[in-house]
Amino acid sequence: MNIQHNISLKKYNTFGIDVIAKRFISIDAVYKLQQLLKIEKDVFLISGGSNMLLTKDIEQLVVHIDIKGISIDKEDENFVYLTVNAGENWHNFVLWCVDNNYGGIENLSLIPGNVGTCPIQNIGAYGVEVKDTITKVEALEIATQKLNTFSNQDCNFGYRNSIFKNDAKGKYIITSVGFRLTKKHHNLNTSYGAIATELASKKIEKPTLKNISDAVIAIRKSKLPDPKVIGNSGSFFKNPVVSKDFFLTLQKKYPNIPSYTVSDSEIKVPAGWLIERAGFKGNRFGDFGVHEKQALVLVNYGNASGKEIYELAQKIQQNILELFEISLEIEVNIIH
Ligand code: EPU
Repeated sequence: MNIQHNISLKKYNTFGIDVIAKRFISIDAVYKLQQLLKIEKDVFLISGGSNMLLTKDIEQLVVHIDIKGISIDKEDENFVYLTVNAGENWHNFVLWCVDNNYGGIENLSLIPGNVGTCPIQNIGAYGVEVKDTITKVEALEIATQKLNTFSNQDCNFGYRNSIFKNDAKGKYIITSVGFRLTKKHHNLNTSYGAIATELASKKIEKPTLKNISDAVIAIRKSKLPDPKVIGNSGSFFKNPVVSKDFFLTLQKKYPNIPSYTVSDSEIKVPAGWLIERAGFKGNRFGDFGVHEKQALVLVNYGNASGKEIYELAQKIQQNILELFEISLEIEVNIIH
């Protein structure tokens, strides 16, 4: 086994935080992972590194999941069933699907990270959540090295949530994800305002998967920082869900507050709006700050530490609580 020593993790996390892995190994096959787990139980996993904030050097063995490959399990007239290995880059996979006219994930274009981590937080954007295309998740149980298959139901998906953030947390390593995508009669989701505007500006009336993917890419590029240029982890906080009664009192005070209805009694409020309203949008402190175009995104302009960014996040949480009486929940995994 090729274990390396004192490796910087800067290029392995999209926040670009420069911490050291005392020991580091890249794994490109499930059987190698099984062999490794027989001897190493206390491991720290890193895949696309797109949803974590590293605040210190990592003492455990860092295992970089780099298992590649896409296979077509079966297909019929309407659907294709794919198994995609965990180390495939998410956006490249989306583009491959769009090129092959496989529909369902085109709205999730340009999301950073790898396929293996997409079920953990049930990635979602522009009216689509990945859970609606996932058929199964294969994961190695760390304690037994057995490969388990989780059905879509087993995954307990919710908004930015799954079993892998709860009961199964820390117990499994996802090795592949199964998808069912459409080959025809695509269920196009263009309801999200910005997509509709983008398509209209291009005079596209009957959009293809590629048109939607291109629209999403254009919207994301206009609002969200490219992690290759400015370190970030996308939305740092979840959008809070509040009771309808509470929302109505909030709305009296702030008539322009945007909202999405979750159920008869619950309303989701955009955290980005709250943070902007609290005056943090575009604030820069040395090498870190709040993105100028989307207040939900905290950024590293170069050499910020994870601790600095975490302290800013806590300051934001406290301000939002004082101003709006709303607790903002952090979405990114903070590694203490
Ligand atoms: N808003 C502001 N100020 C801001 C940001 C947003 O007022 O700085 C307002 C907007 O004007 C709009 C509302 O908040 O009225 C919603 O904004 P946006 O459409 O940008 O979406 P979001 O709710 O802030 C969520 C996801 C994003 C995803 C977008 C689009 C979460 C936590 N975030 O953001 O996900 O791309 O919707 O679907 O649910 C990510 O997870 O990394 C991510 C970028």
